[in-house]
Amino acid sequence: MDEQHQRSWAEPFKIKMVEPIRMTARADRERFIAEAGYNTFLLRSEDVYIDLLTDSGTSAMSDQQWAGMLLGDEAYAGSRNFYHLEDAVRKYYGYSYLVPTHQGRGAEHILSQIAIKPGDFVPGNMYFTTTRLHQELAGGTFVDVIVDEAHDPAADYPFKGNVDLEKLQELIDRVGAEHIPYVSVAATVNMAGGQPIAMENLREVRKLTKIHGIRVILDAARAIENAYFIQQREPGYHDTPVAKILREMCSYTDGCTMSAKKDALVNIGGFLALNDANLYDEARNLVVVYEGLHTYGGLAGRDMEAMARGIEESVSDDHIRARVGQVEYLGRKLQEADVPIVRPIGGHAVYLDARRFYRHIPQDEYPAQALAANIYLDSGVRGMERGIVSAGRDPQTGENHHPSLELVRLTIPRRVYTQAHMDVVAESVVEVYRHRAEARGLKIVYEPKYLRFFQARFDPLD
Ligand code: F0G
Repeated sequence: MDEQHQRSWAEPFKIKMVEPIRMTARADRERFIAEAGYNTFLLRSEDVYIDLLTDSGTSAMSDQQWAGMLLGDEAYAGSRNFYHLEDAVRKYYGYSYLVPTHQGRGAEHILSQIAIKPGDFVPGNMYFTTTRLHQELAGGTFVDVIVDEAHDPAADYPFKGNVDLEKLQELIDRVGAEHIPYVSVAATVNMAGGQPIAMENLREVRKLTKIHGIRVILDAARAIENAYFIQQREPGYHDTPVAKILREMCSYTDGCTMSAKKDALVNIGGFLALNDANLYDEARNLVVVYEGLHTYGGLAGRDMEAMARGIEESVSDDHIRARVGQVEYLGRKLQEADVPIVRPIGGHAVYLDARRFYRHIPQDEYPAQALAANIYLDSGVRGMERGIVSAGRDPQTGENHHPSLELVRLTIPRRVYTQAHMDVVAESVVEVYRHRAEARGLKIVYEPKYLRFFQARFDPLD
């Protein structure tokens, strides 16, 4: 076994079905990206060669999951697949009550509406776009309590997702525990570069919040990737299966919001899971207003079946090692070529550091947005901006947030691409880096009100 670990890893699956993709000509890509307003979200997927926009809902399902799709019990109420999903969530995450939702933000919406009162504060280990917006729409204010290392892309700290306990204590002292409905803890922090939180830190967060009677809610979208990092990096966990680590992580929290489109290997789906019977009662009531009955939450029976089966596959040690291993493979290639990326390499994506990539482009000229467009122009590889455009504006002042991290995310879908695809991606990024001095910034020409990064349009600056 140990000897095996010294050698190259390979995916613990073989490929049964393929989907053709097509390379385009540079002249065509120039037209496509201009038509898309230099926003990779507005490209047609047909015009993309290797799609690293997101790992959300883009993973390949297994034959077991596809077989489960034919076992969908499409009853309006009490579908057999709901009970299978409930069993899987109880077994692998350990929470008592389950409310399915159409995806993660559906769960965030329900939770924010039932838990947050106007004037409340919600501390979290860095914001996530939809999570923060739902907190704000419920009248809350998000407060960043992540450790400082998370804001420094070059810091090589193994648990950059950790909560800074002093920042959390300071907030409790300042606003009072009664104005903090819960602490929002993300596992592998997306906006920090896919960085994990340590088990020890979760335990400490639990200890501190318990004193003050504050709940802890986990964003479990990529909790299994986080569990893998704990296994690899945290003393005492090297021989513990990720499934067991996941259960322990969840045991320090009171519930979770889940986008099953990530870890759980499905194309659509999510849930809210809770331990408190009263809070569950409110969630079960509100879900019928926005998503559907509490035994389907906006999903078909077949979707819940695929999710139940996906959860079981997602906690396999072999699966998660190959999944994160592929991300590390791409990250190392870029590091070897001295391309500036966020360190350590993340769990679901490699994040290019656009500030160091394009030192000559100021943040107000959207360097990461320009970089994502330039990579698409070079090779048809699609990534996404995670910088000033994604950060949006302060709802009170209307001013742009200026995040310390100005990144392009190259996000790897699970079980979809091969190492040869990763080689092509690395070559393209290195080529764009070679031509970095020629790059120019962008200006915004259309900005939507909510989550502007999805639909904003840009023009190149001369
Ligand atoms: N939380 C995290 C950490 C996420 O990354 C996402 C989605 C959500 C919540 C919301 O879940 O999309 O199912 O409604 N992230 C996607 C991404 C969009 O590309 O990172 P959703």
